[in-house]
Amino acid sequence: SLLMSLLILAAYLLGSLSFAVIVSNTMGLADPRTYGSNNPGATNVLRSGNKKAAAFTLLGDALKGWVAVFAAQQIAPHIGLGAVGSESYTHAIAAVAIAVTVGHMWPIFFKFKGGKGVATAAGILLALNIWLGLATLAIWIFVAKVLKISSLSALIAAGLSPLLTAWLMPNQPIYLGAVTVIAVLLIHRHKQNIIGLMKGKEGKIGDQP
Ligand code: G3P
Repeated sequence: SLLMSLLILAAYLLGSLSFAVIVSNTMGLADPRTYGSNNPGATNVLRSGNKKAAAFTLLGDALKGWVAVFAAQQIAPHIGLGAVGSESYTHAIAAVAIAVTVGHMWPIFFKFKGGKGVATAAGILLALNIWLGLATLAIWIFVAKVLKISSLSALIAAGLSPLLTAWLMPNQPIYLGAVTVIAVLLIHRHKQNIIGLMKGKEGKIGDQP
């Protein structure tokens, strides 16, 4: 429907707000696309040495994922997309979750050169199901603390997220499908990191470039 298309478009546009670039610009820091991994994400902003900027990036990118899904959950039943839990409602929420991810990764405002989707996916999962979000976050933070490699912890958490979804949101194939699509996109966006990991060249969190 038209309203569903508008909801998906709004989520894509919201996802397109690259907080790594916005925060860095606002704080007078270098553009994160010009140093380190060149990735507009919290991990790379941290390589600037500015922890506050990295934290704001992480929060902003996570919040937009959360806001997109949460807003859709509130709006969908009121614009004829079905009652909470109905098939059309679930489709709308799943589509919005994917759209905000796609916006972050291929943002219309930044020449379609976006981030890898880690923070945004965390926000999405928290909105889809708080336990799914917290469980995935716990794995991500635990692995990051132990291994101190941002990309690897994100890859492990993303790889496990469909299993966690199947466990914590049972018999909801649409959400399982959406989480799987997001995980596959996230892993795809980590191609360079996977190459770096295999070569043993992936740096530790906070290391300067
Ligand atoms: O947040 C993305 C992270 O998993 C990897 O970032 O800059 O090390 O490629 P980066």
